[in-house]
Amino acid sequence: MPDMLVPLYRLPSQGALPEGVTLRPALPFEAHEVLAFVAAHFGQKWVDECTVALAARPARLLIATEGTHLLGFACYDVTFRGFFGPTGVAPEARGKGLGKALLLAALHRLRDDGFAYGIIGGAGPVAFYQETCGATPIPDSDPGAYSGALV
Ligand SMILES: CC(C)(COP(=O)(O)OP(=O)(O)OC[C@H]1O[C@@H](n2cnc3c(N)ncnc32)[C@H](O)[C@@H]1OP(=O)(O)O)[C@@H](O)C(=O)NCCC(=O)NCCS
Repeated sequence: MPDMLVPLYRLPSQGALPEGVTLRPALPFEAHEVLAFVAAHFGQKWVDECTVALAARPARLLIATEGTHLLGFACYDVTFRGFFGPTGVAPEARGKGLGKALLLAALHRLRDDGFAYGIIGGAGPVAFYQETCGATPIPDSDPGAYSGALV
């Protein structure tokens, strides 16, 4: 899985969210709910990265909610400076634009924090990132920054 480069100076604007959905940084007292969601759907490595993202104020972890229901999350500037990820949407909530909305909201925050480029770390769905934010694969980046990490 390559890393991908995103030019933040020509990011698409953030579109409308599906009816009833809100995006915002997670609050400290929501950490246990968010981490349980990530553990249930995505595994321990992402729980570890989300734990770090949640320690920032405001958290560098955005959540998509509908009422009190958690639908998805996206982290930025966590494992490496300027990197996006991890991110995930609950299986039953996919295909409604939430993944794209979380991605663009996080990238806009990275840009506002002073980065000119963002990096999608270890991009799984390469086509998703190409289409939603104009990301391009970084040559020779697999294995890249994560090389040699403990499993
Ligand atoms: C990747 C993921 C976050 C996308 O979330 P989603 O809410 O289903 O995506 P969206 O509905 O916002 O999709 C936006 C667009 O991307 C497209 N898309 C979504 N997933 C895609 C994929 N895996 N490959 C290519 N295109 C994809 C959609 O068709 C849609 O296109 P459209 O605007 O032309 O209709 C979600 O599938 C997920 O949680 N996957 C498992 C975790 C994961 O792989 N995270 C990324 C690790 S780097």
